Amino acid sequence: MQVVGVTTQQFVYIASRERKFRIGEILIIDDPELHLRGEVVETKSFNRFLPLTAEQSPLIDPDVWNGLEQVGFRLGEETIHLAKVRILTDIPYPVAVGAAVHLPSFAEVADLLLPCEPDSGLVLGVILGTEDMQGTLPDQLKKLAPLYRKGEGILPQKGVPFVFDHKAMQEYPHIGIFGGSGSGKSFGMRVILEELMEKRIPTLVFDPHYEMSFNTPFEGMEEKTAKKYASNTEILTVGRETGVNFEDLTSDDLASLLRAAGGNFTEGMDNALKAIHRPKDSFISFSQKLDYCIRLAEKEEETRAEIRKNYGENSPFEKMIDNMARQAGHPSSLRGISWRLHRLNREGIFQKDISAILNALQRRRLTVIRGPIWLLTVFSAYLIRKLYGMRRDYIDALQRGEPPADKFPPFVIVTDEAHNFARKGTEFVSPARSIFREVAQEGRKYGVFLILATQRPALLDETITAQLNTKIIFRTVRASDIDVIREETDISGEEAGRLPYLPSGTAFVSSAIVGRTVSVRIRCARTQAPRSLNPFAELDRDFGGTDAELFKVISKFLPLHFGQITLILPEIENALDRTVTVDEVQASLEALAAEGKLEKIEGPFGPTYQGVNE
Ligand SMILES: Nc1ncnc2c1ncn2[C@@H]1O[C@H](COP(=O)(O)OP(=O)(O)O)[C@@H](O)[C@H]1O
Ligand SMILES: [Mg+2]
Repeated sequence: MQVVGVTTQQFVYIASRERKFRIGEILIIDDPELHLRGEVVETKSFNRFLPLTAEQSPLIDPDVWNGLEQVGFRLGEETIHLAKVRILTDIPYPVAVGAAVHLPSFAEVADLLLPCEPDSGLVLGVILGTEDMQGTLPDQLKKLAPLYRKGEGILPQKGVPFVFDHKAMQEYPHIGIFGGSGSGKSFGMRVILEELMEKRIPTLVFDPHYEMSFNTPFEGMEEKTAKKYASNTEILTVGRETGVNFEDLTSDDLASLLRAAGGNFTEGMDNALKAIHRPKDSFISFSQKLDYCIRLAEKEEETRAEIRKNYGENSPFEKMIDNMARQAGHPSSLRGISWRLHRLNREGIFQKDISAILNALQRRRLTVIRGPIWLLTVFSAYLIRKLYGMRRDYIDALQRGEPPADKFPPFVIVTDEAHNFARKGTEFVSPARSIFREVAQEGRKYGVFLILATQRPALLDETITAQLNTKIIFRTVRASDIDVIREETDISGEEAGRLPYLPSGTAFVSSAIVGRTVSVRIRCARTQAPRSLNPFAELDRDFGGTDAELFKVISKFLPLHFGQITLILPEIENALDRTVTVDEVQASLEALAAEGKLEKIEGPFGPTYQGVNE
C-alpha cells in the first residue's frame, strides 16, 4: 500500500494491488517524522480488463493518475484498489507520494477508537472497518460484543468494540436513534437499555409497542443475565399500575390531558374548563360541577330542584354553579369536556398515581411505562414535568445551599415513536412537546437525558433534534428524512448515499462525543422481546381444533343421522364450552367428511355420518 496522490492537506489517495479497502478503516502512513493516521472515506477498485479513463472515474483526478504511474502501477493492465483517505491530524506539510502505508495494530489507534474502558462506558457494538485488528486486541477487549446475523445465529466479535462514553453526556447530552421500519432501532434500543442497566442508571422508558421486557434470554445467551435484568426492571401500565393523581393537576395540565384524549379541543372548551376547574379538585368534585353545569343548561327546573334538595335553599354551592355555568359559555363546550374526561377515566388513568414510578427510579431501576400511544403521550407530559421538577428542585436547593426537601436521582428518559411525543409544526401540538423541549435544552444541567427513537426524524420537533448531540442512524430510505439527517449530522454525502442500503443492525454514529462519524454494527442483544406466537401457528393451536374437537365429541354417537344433531347439541355445547348451532355442527360434519375423517351416506331423510371403517 502506497500513497499515490495528494489533493489537499486533508486528503490523500492510497493504492494497493492486493488489498481491498473498507470504508471507515484506519490506515497508518509511514512518514519518518509524522505519525500520520487516516480514515478511508471512499473506495474504488479497477479491474485490469476495464479500460480506464479519467472521465469514467471521478474519484481519480489527473494528479492521482500520475501518482499511480510514478510509483509503478500500470493502469489498465492490473487490478488496482484505491482509497480516498482523510487525514485525522493536522499536518504541517503535504504527505510525499510514494510513502508506504500499513494497517494499524490496535495499540497504534487505541486512542482514536476507544474513548474509555469498556466497564466505564456502554458497549454497544463493533466499529466497522476494524475487523483486521481483532488479532491485536488485548484479551479483555476480545469478547465484549458478540454479533448476530439472522440465519447464522450469534457470531464472535470481530473488530474493536464500540464503547460509548455515556459520562460525556454531561457535556454533550441526549441521543437520537433514527431509522426506517425494520432497520434495527428497537434492537439497538434494547442493547442501550441493557447497558444502562449494567450501570444501574435510573431510566424511564415509554413503551408504546409493549416490547421492552428483559426476562427472555436471546437464543444462545445466558439465562442468568436475563434474570438479572428482569429483576432490575419495573413494568407499569398506565391506568393499571400507574396514573395521574387528579388532585395534583393544574387547569393547564388537565387541559392538555383532555386535548390529547382526542377530537378538536376548542378554545371554548379551554375557557369552560378554566371556569370550572379549581386547584385541588378531585375527579369527583370536578365531574360533579361539570355535570351540574351541563344539566342546568339543559333542564334548569329539575336540576335546580335537585341542587336545593341536596344543598338547601340559596346555598353557596348553587351560587357557585350558577357562576361557573355563566362563565363556561355554551353547553356544547361542557359536553366536549365531559366525554373527554370520561374517556380518560375509563382508561383508569385517574385511579392510580406515580408513586410506583418514583419508587422504582429512586431504586435505580429501569422503569417501563406501557399504554396505547395516545395515552402515553398525554401521560408522559404530566409525568416528565413532575419528575423533572423534582430533580430540578433538588439540584437548585443544593446549589443554593438549602437543605433539599426530597432527594431525587439523575435519570434518562427513553422513548420510541418520539415524533408522536414531540411533533414539529403547529397544526398538531403534542402535549409533551414543551416539556421534551425543556429537557432537551436544559436537562444537562440537572442530569436528565433523552434517548429518542423515531422512524420519522423529519417529523420530530427541530429544537429537540438540534439538541441530540449523538445520533445513531440506521437504514433510512425516505428522502425527507435523509435530508434532515444530512442537515443535523456531519455524515458525508457518500455516507448519506449508503443510508438506504444499510443492513439491519448497522448504523452510522454521528456524535460530538466520538468526534467523527463511525460506522457501527450493533452487538447482539442479551435478551429479546417475549416471542409472540406466529399468528399462523396460533391459528392451528388455538382455533384450528374446532372440527377436531367436535369429532371427538360426536364419535361416540356415530353413526349420526342429520336429524339427531338437535338431540346431542347440549352434550356438544358442554364439551366445547360454548353455544353451538345445528348449522355449525352440520358444517363441521361436512368438513370432516370432505377431509375423509367421516363417511357421509345420503338418504331420503337427509345424510347420515358414520365412522370411516364402520
Ligand atoms: N444489531 C443487530 N444485529 C443483528 N440483527 C439485527 C440487529 N438489529 C436488528 N436486527 C434484525 O432486524 C430485525 C428488525 O429490527 P428492529 O429493531 O425490530 O427494527 P425497527 O425497530 O427499526 O423496526 C430484528 O428482528 C433482527 O432480526
Ligand atoms: Mg421497532
